[in-house]
Amino acid sequence: MSGQLVRFEVEDGIGVITVDNPPVNALSPGVPEGILESVAKGNKDPNVKAMVLMGAGRSFIAGADIRQFGKGAKRLGIGERPVDVLEKSEKPIVAAIHGFALGGGLETAMACNYRIAKKATKVGLPEVLIGLLPGGCGTQRLPRLVGPKIALDMIVTGRHVPAEEAKGYGVLDALIDDKADLRAEAIKFAKSIADKKPMPIVSKMTTKFDEYKNDPGMFDKMRKSIEKKAKGQPAPFACIDAVEAAVTLPYDQGIVRERELFAPLENSDASKGLRYAFFAERQAGRLPDLPEGTKQKKIEKGAVIGAGTMGGGIAMSFADFGVPVKILDSTQEALDRGMKRVKDNYAVAVKRGSITQAQMDERLKLIEPVLAYEDIGQADVVIEAVFEELGVKQEVFRKLDAVMKPGALLLSNTSTIDVDKIGADVKRKKDVAGAHFFSPANVMRLLEVVEGTESAPETIAAAMQLGKQIGKVSAWAGNTDGFVANRSRGPFTAEASILLEDGALPEQVDKVLVDFGYPMGPFAVGDLAGLDIGWAVRKRKAAEDPTFRKNPIADRLCEMGRFGQKTGAGWYRYEKGDRTPHPDPIVAQTIKEVTSSLGIKQRSFTEDEILRRLLFASVNEACKILEEKKARRASDVDIMWLYGFGFPRYRGGLMFWADTIGSKDIYEQIVRWHNELGPRWRPSALLKEVASKGGKLSEIVMMG
Ligand code: NAI
Repeated sequence: MSGQLVRFEVEDGIGVITVDNPPVNALSPGVPEGILESVAKGNKDPNVKAMVLMGAGRSFIAGADIRQFGKGAKRLGIGERPVDVLEKSEKPIVAAIHGFALGGGLETAMACNYRIAKKATKVGLPEVLIGLLPGGCGTQRLPRLVGPKIALDMIVTGRHVPAEEAKGYGVLDALIDDKADLRAEAIKFAKSIADKKPMPIVSKMTTKFDEYKNDPGMFDKMRKSIEKKAKGQPAPFACIDAVEAAVTLPYDQGIVRERELFAPLENSDASKGLRYAFFAERQAGRLPDLPEGTKQKKIEKGAVIGAGTMGGGIAMSFADFGVPVKILDSTQEALDRGMKRVKDNYAVAVKRGSITQAQMDERLKLIEPVLAYEDIGQADVVIEAVFEELGVKQEVFRKLDAVMKPGALLLSNTSTIDVDKIGADVKRKKDVAGAHFFSPANVMRLLEVVEGTESAPETIAAAMQLGKQIGKVSAWAGNTDGFVANRSRGPFTAEASILLEDGALPEQVDKVLVDFGYPMGPFAVGDLAGLDIGWAVRKRKAAEDPTFRKNPIADRLCEMGRFGQKTGAGWYRYEKGDRTPHPDPIVAQTIKEVTSSLGIKQRSFTEDEILRRLLFASVNEACKILEEKKARRASDVDIMWLYGFGFPRYRGGLMFWADTIGSKDIYEQIVRWHNELGPRWRPSALLKEVASKGGKLSEIVMMG
């Protein structure tokens, strides 16, 4: 088996070891063994002066095989792994890298004597992103190569580092032009170093450790700096401990320490959640029932209707990924206002250093404001983001029907309106669908693709692909009220308000969710966004629908002029010029007054009860959505919560988290609350079914 996965050929006195394990040359069983056999062959063969290690196809070794983690798979021991054996080779080995060298890939490359790479290559140790540390000597070798400071940054963030930057740090010895023949260049390089003595061996390097001697507090500083962000996650801290071991222990002890630190991470809940999220994300992008032969549409030019908050953000998303986009509004003033906001947003990014001025200029050039529909007719996709009013949207779609070229995607960013109704007057209904972005649209990565009754498979496939093209994570949704993301979150939001009526305080609810891993609680978020928006929506809905459930406490705060941060008070009070929320006795008093006037008896809640009331309500709704086949996979719901609502990634997602409690316990609790608290807790039939079998909610898949 290893013979197929790894090839060894001799060319011009150089032994070329090629890993050929498509699609990304992951280090699955057989690959390490194959590398070891090849190195042994090379050392034995008197014709071989040096060796090259490279990957076939589109990449070097992209990393470990993630599916192997947590399965108790037997691993090679310390001293037996390629990362231990490569550097003991009598003949020098050159890692020749293209595509990606990540995780185990970079660790393998660092065990070689030299590393050369094509300029478009990216390298990194991203294990932390799946709750692990680089356990193949990565935490011990990288600090030796680049110094502990850069190593900490790379290992704790897990970021992909472009080749030029990596060469600057010393990860790479030489860069090769992207058009050059990697194998030929690598052989040339190997010949040039074949007789050089001594051979560089990373594990023996120590010169970069001076950095630590000059700044021995660096590790504690790093721990402190991630304290808040990495709360609840052991991996980032273990990464720091391991890098510290690299500079404080001899290499042989350091790699033992690395393995000790790795072991508990592999089975940690955080790593399980992160690994689940990794696969759920890849899964979400796949449409399970796409008819064979569905044509893929190419998207080269975009258009957005409405230069408001969302339209501007959507246009930026296009430009950020190099897709030219026209943005149309009904008046010059609205266009100017919209373009100003886009410019201001980019200027902030430049100030923060996340993009350069040149990048800002380039992106702005890609966004062209227009007033006439005729100007957008040639776009491959148009996304409508005008006011949330059916009549206005229908009018826009009639105009689009008249001007857009055949086959263009006609998408609406509506958050609440039935997409079938929006496209009711359009003749080419197969091209119509929903493309629901989240605010701020240039930042939030979720794109919910909503399938209308008559949307063609090509349209849905293209809308999903569009998301990917502009850096989003696309997930499919059926055309149900609120679609999947907001509908599944609705009960969470409603329950948060009800909890206050029943006796909890905003700061208590927020604390529970921050402790759970959210960056902010829902009431603090409300203050940030502005409470007046929801107030206006509630007033409108109450006028339209007499059964609409009011939010008396929030309404009272708004009547008092407390709109959140912008007015210095909302659910919390704020000091001038400071965004820190302070609990406010006036709010507690107001809650008491409102609830006593309504005759609601207040009680106290435990933190666990608060968390369960909020999240179980949404788990139940998500099950109802799945039951109606408006979502196909529970894991898609999880992706929506991760990318649309900032649900803590290390918890996997709503449904993955639910499985850590168990479907049976959740069902039984919901039945009890249904009896106690009324019809809003009606249990989902699907939840009941899964619970009766002791099944996993995150594994629900509904097809057809
Ligand atoms: P907005 O009020 O900021 O912007 C709407 C823009 O559309 C304005 O610039 C307006 O001049 C323009 N417009 C109105 N009628 C037009 C017409 N007939 N032709 C051309 N332009 C027209 O609204 P926002 O917040 O950007 O929302 C837009 C859409 O996005 C709505 O459907 C909303 O439900 C949806 N949405 C909003 C989210 C949010 O958080 N604000 C999140 C997700 C979706």
